[in-house]
Amino acid sequence: MKKVIFIIALFFSLQVSRADNQNQISISTLDTELLINVSPNGRIYQSYLGAKLSKEPDKASLFEFQKTSGDSNNPNKIWECYPVSGTEDFFEPAFAIRHNDGNPTSVLYYLSHNVRKIDDNITETTIKLKDNLYPVYVTLHYVTYSKENIFKTWTEISHKEKYPVNISRYASSFLYFSEPSYYLNEFSGDWAKETKMSTQQLSFGKKIIDSKLGTRAAMFAYPFFELGFGNTANENSGKVLMGTIGWTGNFSFTFEVDNMGCLRVISGINPYASDYTLKPSDIFTTPEFIFTLSNQGVGQGSRNFHHWALNYQLKDGKGDRLTLLNNWENTGFDFNEEKIANLCKETKKLGVDMFLLDDGWFGNKYPRIDDHAGLGDWDVTKSKLPHGIPFLVKAAKAEGVKLGIWIEPEMVNPKSELAEKHPDWIISLSKREPYYFRNQLVLDLCNPKVQDYVYSIIDNLMIENPDLAFMKWDCNSPITNIYSPYLKGKQGQLYIDYVRGLYNVMNRVKKNYPNLPLMLCSGGGGRCDYEALKYFTEFWCSDNTDPVERIFIQWGFSHFFPSKSMCAHVTNWSSNTSIKFRVDVAMMCKLGFDINLQSLKEPEMAFCHQAIENYKQLKNVIYNGDLYRLFSPYDGNHSASLYVTENKSLLFAYDIHPRFGEKLFPVKLQGLNPTTMYRLKETNLMSGHDSDFRQNGQLYSGSFLMNIGLDVFTTQQTHSRVIEITAE
Ligand code: GLA
Repeated sequence: MKKVIFIIALFFSLQVSRADNQNQISISTLDTELLINVSPNGRIYQSYLGAKLSKEPDKASLFEFQKTSGDSNNPNKIWECYPVSGTEDFFEPAFAIRHNDGNPTSVLYYLSHNVRKIDDNITETTIKLKDNLYPVYVTLHYVTYSKENIFKTWTEISHKEKYPVNISRYASSFLYFSEPSYYLNEFSGDWAKETKMSTQQLSFGKKIIDSKLGTRAAMFAYPFFELGFGNTANENSGKVLMGTIGWTGNFSFTFEVDNMGCLRVISGINPYASDYTLKPSDIFTTPEFIFTLSNQGVGQGSRNFHHWALNYQLKDGKGDRLTLLNNWENTGFDFNEEKIANLCKETKKLGVDMFLLDDGWFGNKYPRIDDHAGLGDWDVTKSKLPHGIPFLVKAAKAEGVKLGIWIEPEMVNPKSELAEKHPDWIISLSKREPYYFRNQLVLDLCNPKVQDYVYSIIDNLMIENPDLAFMKWDCNSPITNIYSPYLKGKQGQLYIDYVRGLYNVMNRVKKNYPNLPLMLCSGGGGRCDYEALKYFTEFWCSDNTDPVERIFIQWGFSHFFPSKSMCAHVTNWSSNTSIKFRVDVAMMCKLGFDINLQSLKEPEMAFCHQAIENYKQLKNVIYNGDLYRLFSPYDGNHSASLYVTENKSLLFAYDIHPRFGEKLFPVKLQGLNPTTMYRLKETNLMSGHDSDFRQNGQLYSGSFLMNIGLDVFTTQQTHSRVIEITAE
């Protein structure tokens, strides 16, 4: 016994001496710094997160402060980086474990850390921790993108106990703040109501934003948030934290204000129904929590995210995107070969790059004539398309356009051959009455055989049709009837292993078809996270394509995602608004059409044609320009956003439902060079209509445009203007 105590004491003293040598770890970007202290007690604490500190003595004083305030009678004064369950902290933990002997506690001590410069911009810092009583290891990872001011953090958990341990908390990140007040911007939603923004002040206790939906995880709550410190998170001023989790499944953000009035922000996989059994040989890697801290409001924070996404995260972030004509809103399930061949012709006539064939092309024993049958059977419906997909690829090629195709590979209708053949491949409770969401069930992607099957759907399509140019990958149901036949006694792993199974499939797709652009769709915008977007070039923001609704939805998503990743289609939703208004709203993002072109009058068709030509000229500004959100639709009856590149900028201004008597005000631009002269030109005009924009054609300095602004708003209903601003 004495020997054991001696070894523990020796181990502990080693921790302390190492800690004394390297007592402060700085993790920073150009503007932001996170300081972590290795305390004399051998444990690690967050001592600072904020604007970069320039003086070394200031940092050292933070360490001294912590040394003296690290009073074990009042542990909440100090902020342990990865607080554990069962010992000293009385609030939500980052980590909870049950060891082989049933002990549910842990204390993590510093082992070592490593700083690796990946290139001039990217640095990775890892900090290794270990429980002093059990062979349990936790490694905290921090990757910084200096120019973009982006931090990525995640955690690896492993152990060398004899048998598997059980982990029930496994946060990706744990951050602390001490500010006068905290305001949370959250993004909630539902089908056709994506990214509704609301703000609330946080006071003592917890606010949780999470998802328990599994697959269509972001249907009700989006995996991102904004925090304003001392004030609401404003567009152009103030300190704000913007964070998002790269996890295409159940996620959770906990905001807890503690007894000292400090805010704790815990981000990670939602541990709900997910106690995980971790084998001795395995490493549990959490998803990445990605954040930026801006001192100039959420506008700058969004630009940080956009730059980082285009440079590093989004699939083909630097590349171009395909404009398209889709048939979902036009034909629904009701089409045949002739209709599709005709739509390829119309694609050409319209002037977009690709025709996208949507749902309804597969299933023979149970043809997909509506959403009750056929999902899972990915053979082309012979009665509808007798010559298969190759015929359609050829038909598109003959018109000089490309062909894309819709799939929903993770799902199955009970009315399908797949369900008949492989009931054990379906997440379901065999002895209970099934609950169906859109008449379908979710395949058990925890099972490697199911992963192979799902991969084969894409692979077979590509082998048969190497010229297929695009896939829209849909996912209309959350996980229901929650039981994995594959996992049997380890159901706590279902939600996590499902997502990992999905990533296995996506990795194979990316490896074997690296240049295939893919759209992430989930009954509208029910999936939109930065891990999925490593594999997807873009995502479908919403089935709601009413332009007024879209102004709000796109506004919300733009806080975290660049316009190039956000698909927006012109449809007949709200066909009482002008085609110009609908096109002008969709044109802010990745433009597509999903409309019966026959329903358009000749001038409307001519307008669309011309707008697509304009889009081709301007898309570099839309895709790669810096976004300045100038006037929020939440603030009144108008909205305006500006994309800025060095020589050309593009202003989108919308009048939604203004009142006749309301006061109009000029829109002040941002991000221009004050001394450069800029020429204004209204574009996207209906042919035969002259611009009634008072300042059209004028030349102004950047200073004028940013201080005095433009009279772009009107009192007309659902009215829009697109203004080119060209440096001379
Ligand atoms: C989902 C998508 C739609 C469409 C349908 C097809 O709802 O969001 O765009 O593809 O599925 O069933």
